[in-house]
Amino acid sequence: MIAFALSIHMLGAIIWVGGMFFAYMCLRPVAAEMLEPPVRLPLWSAVFARFFNWVWLIVMLMPLTGYYMIFKNWDGFTFVTIDIHLMHVIGLLMILLFLHVYFAPYRRMNEALAANDLQEAARRLGQIRVLVAVNLTLGLIIGVIASAGRYW
Ligand code: HEM
Repeated sequence: MIAFALSIHMLGAIIWVGGMFFAYMCLRPVAAEMLEPPVRLPLWSAVFARFFNWVWLIVMLMPLTGYYMIFKNWDGFTFVTIDIHLMHVIGLLMILLFLHVYFAPYRRMNEALAANDLQEAARRLGQIRVLVAVNLTLGLIIGVIASAGRYW
C-alpha cells in the first residue's frame, strides 16, 4: 500500500510540476510570439481548462497519499524528518496558490473572455503567469527536497 501511495504521489508531482514547466517555459513564449490576443487568450483558457482538471485531482491526491505515508511510515508527525516537514508546508502553499489561481484570476479571465473584454482577460492572464511561476519554483524546490533531502 505504501508503494502504491508513493507511486500515485510521485506521478502527481511529475504531472503537476512538469505541466507547469511545459506551459511556462515552452508554450508561453511561443504563444506570445506567434499568436495575437484574440486567438492567444481563448487558447490559454482552453489549455487551463484541461490542465486544471488534472490539477484538481492531483491537489486532492497529494495530501491524501502524503498523510497516509506519514501515518504509516512514521506513526504520525512526531518523528517526521525536516525534509518531509518542508515538503508538507510548501505543498500546502502550492495547493492554496492553485486554489487562488482557479477561483480568482482564472475565473475572471473567463468572465472577461465571455464579455469580449480582451484587455481585462490579458491582465488576468498576466496574474496567472506570475502565480504559475511561483508555483513552478516551489514545485521544483519540493522535487529537490523530496528526493535529495534524505541525504542531508
Ligand atoms: C500535503 C502535502 C504533502 C505531504 C504531506 C507529503 C508527504 C510526503 C511523504 C510522506 C513522502 C514519502 C517520503 C519518503 O518515503 O521518504 C513524499 C514523497 C514525495 N513527495 Fe510529497 N508530500 C506533500 C506534497 C508534495 C507535493 C506538492 C509535491 C510536488 C509537487 C511532492 C513531491 C514528492 C515527491 C517527488 C516524493 C518522492 C520522493 C522519493 O521517494 O524520491 N509532495 N511526500
